[in-house]
Amino acid sequence: MNAQQKETLYTQALKEIKERLHHTAGIIPRMATVAAVLKNTLPYFFWCGFYFAEEDELVIGPYQGTSACANIAYSGVCGTAARREETVVVPDVHKFPGHIVCDEMSKSEIVVPVKDEEGRVIAVFDVDASDVNAFDQTDKRFLEQIIPIVLEQ
Ligand code: SME
Repeated sequence: MNAQQKETLYTQALKEIKERLHHTAGIIPRMATVAAVLKNTLPYFFWCGFYFAEEDELVIGPYQGTSACANIAYSGVCGTAARREETVVVPDVHKFPGHIVCDEMSKSEIVVPVKDEEGRVIAVFDVDASDVNAFDQTDKRFLEQIIPIVLEQ
């Protein structure tokens, strides 16, 4: 999918998310809505969802796709994004040391941290694709715009 096609779909998703979240209170319902809209708008999203940043591990939150690992260590892609407090794009998960396999179908991944008002990472949003190189700067730019909306209430 080229950048222009991604832009069109993300713009559509952003509009729907804003409309739906206008009437949606609470972090779990808001996360669930964001995951559902994105998964159903972006055709290359094989799996997407949130993990909450607990003290010693990441714990599964609202997600869409095949059943995922419920508890993961801070060593995987999600943990790396949480520790670095920044988005991590992985073009080929098999080349990322520490990658945690929840589904063999996953080949590339992007993880965006969710930060509270003080800038603390309280969760991450993880997206997996079944193709390598699925994510680029367009995904990073739009997801970094969309994901903070879950906490705007
Ligand atoms: N691959 C992730 C684990 C989460 S699943 O892909 C749903 C990681 O390495 O952190």
